[in-house]
Amino acid sequence: MHNHATQTEKNLQSAFAGESMANRKYLYFAKIARKLGADEVADLFEETAHQETGHAFAHLELLYPSNEMTVERILELAIEGELYETNQMYPEFERIAVEEGDQAAVSEFQEQARESQEHADIFIKAAKRFKALGLVERFHANRYIKALDKVQNKPADLESELQDKQTAKNQEQSNTGTAA
Ligand SMILES: [Fe+2]
Ligand SMILES: [Fe+2]
Repeated sequence: MHNHATQTEKNLQSAFAGESMANRKYLYFAKIARKLGADEVADLFEETAHQETGHAFAHLELLYPSNEMTVERILELAIEGELYETNQMYPEFERIAVEEGDQAAVSEFQEQARESQEHADIFIKAAKRFKALGLVERFHANRYIKALDKVQNKPADLESELQDKQTAKNQEQSNTGTAA
């Protein structure tokens, strides 16, 4: 989300967070209920947890409209989130836990800050691979167009030759256009 979020955008973020938390909390409660032999209660928590996922996704659809997203953008958003956790959120939480003498929380914050860094690295690598893949695909497309051009130009039909060249040019232009 951008820096000038409206109050409604902030509320959507909070609602998304709440529904997401309900999902994980109910799955956690389901595990406890199952362990305590209350299978019916466990089932109820699991069913409700699935519905909370639907609620969270509905908020996400408004925050990050799926028809506006690209692979680059979702990787970028993921990297942003993981780097925020590892560089800002967990260090700050760790500092406060130290102050409050909560050693278990200190260890967990340190551990999860490291894991957020690992996740960020994985997404950064994927983003690089994805961009590299885009370049390779464009390379193949251009080669294919050139090969096609050669085959189609065998008969000395000037008009179709010109037409083919124009088509290839258009395709090449639209390829570089979409790839930018
Ligand atoms: Fe809900
Ligand atoms: Fe993570």
